[in-house]
Amino acid sequence: MKRDELYARARQSLPGGVCASTRLNTALGHPLYVERAEGSQLFDVDGNAYLDMSCGHGAALLGHGHPAVRAALHEAADLGVCCASDTIHHVELAEQICALIASAERVRFTNSGSEATLHAIRLCRAATGRDRIVRFTGHFHGYHEHTFIGGHVPADQLDNPSAYRESPGIPEPLTQFICSIPFNDLAAVERVLEQQGEQIATLILEPVDFNSGGIPPQPGYLQGLRDLTSKYGVLLFFDEIQTSFKKSTGAAQADFGVTPDICTIGKSLGGGLPLSAICGGADLMDLYKPVGEVTHSGTFMAPLASVLGGLAFLDQVTQPSFYPDLLAEFDRFYAEVDAMIARHRIPVQVPRHGARFGVILGLDRAPIDYRDALEHRKDLWLAFIRHAFERGVYFHDYGGGPCHHGFSVAHSRDDVDRVLQVMDESFGAIATQF
Ligand SMILES: Cc1ncc(COP(=O)(O)O)c(C=O)c1O
Repeated sequence: MKRDELYARARQSLPGGVCASTRLNTALGHPLYVERAEGSQLFDVDGNAYLDMSCGHGAALLGHGHPAVRAALHEAADLGVCCASDTIHHVELAEQICALIASAERVRFTNSGSEATLHAIRLCRAATGRDRIVRFTGHFHGYHEHTFIGGHVPADQLDNPSAYRESPGIPEPLTQFICSIPFNDLAAVERVLEQQGEQIATLILEPVDFNSGGIPPQPGYLQGLRDLTSKYGVLLFFDEIQTSFKKSTGAAQADFGVTPDICTIGKSLGGGLPLSAICGGADLMDLYKPVGEVTHSGTFMAPLASVLGGLAFLDQVTQPSFYPDLLAEFDRFYAEVDAMIARHRIPVQVPRHGARFGVILGLDRAPIDYRDALEHRKDLWLAFIRHAFERGVYFHDYGGGPCHHGFSVAHSRDDVDRVLQVMDESFGAIATQF
């Protein structure tokens, strides 16, 4: 197989044969080496076609190779601006984001979501003169040293989650700045803010915890966070890298009616091209140089192709029929998935928010926080992924954990029906093993 040859070759020049650690699909035992992608499908180097249920971890909400995004790439090439300069297109994109996202009066762009949270946290620290961060176990905010602590904590270390560094190489002294607590527990937040409020710069969260399978906030929880953070002068930070544009143009802050002080948006924002953004109020954001003193800069911040991709993306998602059509198809999909789980009589939870959902196997109740997600049966999920893959449906594997999946507007009704059929068969294949 060309794939096996390429995998062997790739390991000679790329650590593990991949350009990002999570690109190895452990269920399959190899990365998916893609030759090309189109609409709802990925084609591997051996010419096999897969219906894509990863969609670039949520970046390809428009599907692959959308005509508007291809046109943006051509336009960028014609304009000849590679990087390091702003254009009228940058201004237009920022204006459109300010009009759509409630917490946005000013916008700064980055490429990746990790860069966005990194620079936003620096801003929060500078604005408050405080260093500590409250975050939640099971949430994910990028791979950098400031937030890759206390997130996906092993069960046997949950008694002291803030001490858990998620990668070797993160200096131990940085753990002193992290206070990691359970999601959906307002009393825990109140306790921390009461004790340490004056040292805490920001409380950061995924409004829907997609990185633990899509766990939603309990009714009133986000408003409770809004009230408590305001009381203690802590900046409320919604990391909407994943939640933005999954259900509406206003991100989860619009979906739940709670406006944070600052947010990060990304993934699909560039129409599949690398683009994320930090959004906040004018007073806060104008602390960035050259108005204020906080540095956020970089040669490749907001490359023109990504910015034009962003304008193309917003043009699509602001069409009146975009979300009604997408969400109607998702409602149909979720209703069918719920029915198949009931039919198989298996303990499976499928938390969802708009275009993305998680699959938590082995849990017989709706998950409230990361502890529930830890009950997930990784072995069965890896078997499920393998089974679906053999039938032409690609679910990405995040180390066996419950994470997030979804389809795009490019998935036709027939595509969705095929995915449902394969999911039904795959649940059937593991049903006796719970
Ligand atoms: C909530 C959240 N924040 C930040 C990130 C990091 O984004 P990126 O992968 O673009 O660095 C992710 C990526 O999955 C995410 O889901």
